[in-house]
Amino acid sequence: MNEAGVQRTESVLVRPLAPTDSIPEITRLLHRAYAKQVAMGLQPLAGRQDDATTAERAANSECYVAVRRDGPGERVVGVILFEEQERATFPSFFLKPHVAHFAQFGVDPEAQGMGIGRALLETVERRAREKGATELALSMAEPDRELYDFYVKRGYRFIEHWQWPYTNYRSCILSKAIA
Ligand SMILES: CC(C)(COP(=O)(O)OP(=O)(O)OC[C@H]1O[C@@H](n2cnc3c(N)ncnc32)[C@H](O)[C@@H]1OP(=O)(O)O)[C@@H](O)C(=O)NCCC(=O)NCCS
Repeated sequence: MNEAGVQRTESVLVRPLAPTDSIPEITRLLHRAYAKQVAMGLQPLAGRQDDATTAERAANSECYVAVRRDGPGERVVGVILFEEQERATFPSFFLKPHVAHFAQFGVDPEAQGMGIGRALLETVERRAREKGATELALSMAEPDRELYDFYVKRGYRFIEHWQWPYTNYRSCILSKAIA
């Protein structure tokens, strides 16, 4: 990681979203990444949001993208939002002063299992430490047990249940001590 907030893993670079990045490309990537949950009958926002919502969510957070070199240009293969501000009420744990949180975390299915998710998580963990937080929290769909195991393996633990107004499932709030 260098001082510009850029991290490399294999041929993939994690960096802040740039004005030249394509919002529709990111929306499509999110729809592909969350298709598994949609196939389970779940309605995650990232699995069905339109381009205006992708742009609004990026503007209301620190948005990081994982990009891979693609010919002369780059292709976005992953995305994550740090400290997204929402109109919806937050779970009580997110409101604690020592807690930072992330959301809309997705990697293109064809690039999963290669450590890109890990690199995106390391980026938001670093940002949380820089902000002085001692916990990094997230919200996930409770029925997705594989995803729950993914986070537990990475040191996250269950905090509380939460119901967002725009989903059809109960969520689990998880958190990891990062100090
Ligand atoms: C969660 C997610 C972002 C992880 O991204 P990723 O790039 O696959 O993450 P990593 O490669 O760092 O880690 C994947 C883990 O699964 C394992 N794995 C092995 N084969 C895999 C495969 N074909 N696909 C996915 N994971 C695989 C990896 O070994 C790794 O575990 P390990 O680091 O303990 O060995 C990605 O699976 C995703 O987009 N999921 C759908 C959207 C979602 O549910 N997001 C989270 C919302 S809270």
